[in-house]
Amino acid sequence: MKVTPPNPPGWVVDSFLRARHVLGRTFRGMVPATARVLEGSFGLIETKSLGAAADLGVADALASGPLSTEALSERVGANPDALARLLRLLVSIGYFAEDGDRWTNNATSELLREDHPESMRAWVVFLGSDWVGTIWNELPASIRTGRSGTEAAFGMEYFDLMQQRPETGAVFDAAMAAASRFTAPFVCAGYDFAGFTRVCDVGGGTGTLLASILTANPGLRGVVFDLPEVVAGAPAELATRGVADRCDVIGGDFFASVPRGCDLYLLQSIVHDWDDDSSVRILTRVREAMDPGSRVLLLEGIVPTSTVMHPSKYADLLMLVLTGRGRERTEPEYAALAARAGLRLERAINLLARDGIELVVA
Ligand SMILES: C[S@@+](CC[C@H](N)C(=O)[O-])C[C@H]1O[C@@H](n2cnc3c(N)ncnc32)[C@H](O)[C@@H]1O
Repeated sequence: MKVTPPNPPGWVVDSFLRARHVLGRTFRGMVPATARVLEGSFGLIETKSLGAAADLGVADALASGPLSTEALSERVGANPDALARLLRLLVSIGYFAEDGDRWTNNATSELLREDHPESMRAWVVFLGSDWVGTIWNELPASIRTGRSGTEAAFGMEYFDLMQQRPETGAVFDAAMAAASRFTAPFVCAGYDFAGFTRVCDVGGGTGTLLASILTANPGLRGVVFDLPEVVAGAPAELATRGVADRCDVIGGDFFASVPRGCDLYLLQSIVHDWDDDSSVRILTRVREAMDPGSRVLLLEGIVPTSTVMHPSKYADLLMLVLTGRGRERTEPEYAALAARAGLRLERAINLLARDGIELVVA
């Protein structure tokens, strides 16, 4: 299995991202406006093609080595001509590779394998799924009304849909875990956990991020806190990662209360799901649980005020269409939320794959 190499130092990644932004802008400017519009509209084709490859298990089928179109089609249960056309496109944009007249994995498509330690398969399956597609169909309605596509498509709020359709909720939880596998190394490398004794991951899903933090910090203890049906998946993850003896798992509702007795409260991708009033309620429950020296670390994207392309601008529309109430925020907007909850924004930290917003009691 080709495992991706460890992340280089932060300043190197940051310089590359800046250079990539400049090159990307130049690259986009190199085609006429009509071609740019056409290329932009291809985004759906890439999302759906990746989702189909992941759904079919193409990368898993190629795990043991290159296969011909016929052999691969037989393994994954596909029409050979259609599968070859799917792979021809995906190879041309950097996923999978050709090895003579056979198909093979490259470092990128390896991440579509179910059993890869950094697998992104669940994320790709989530964004390519029929029900997320049904929600995205409602984007024009969301833009007109400011309300969620989930409500328009399914008649209920996003997290109610996750609760009412356990198989859909499981796809979402797995996608969140996959996203956390991506962000965790950056969080562990970029934030100093040394001074803390017990960390609570509020809305911590099935514990993927916290397991990585506890592994990287052997003296630290933790609490994963999320809805009861979601944290039900945490004990298995914590046991597999060898940190179950240092981590409690607590089910509950963060609008009602948050566990006490921790000196660091992490909230990754939580306030971006909610409007300002709801976010203030969550942060107030966190502040009520905090001891005087405790800190809060929000892990979110900080939306730049410039016109730069930034993942948070994509995530912002995803929040609009999925949750309606959710949004990505600028640094002053996080500061304003914190102040309303009796907290103070102490510093913003560039963690590369995420931004950290550190809050203390005001
Ligand atoms: C966008 S996901 C982020 C999960 C995790 N922090 C991560 O980054 O992978 C939002 C999380 O909030 C949890 N959540 C939603 N409503 C909640 C509530 N009322 N109380 C506790 N957790 C809740 C969801 O179950 C979900 O795990």
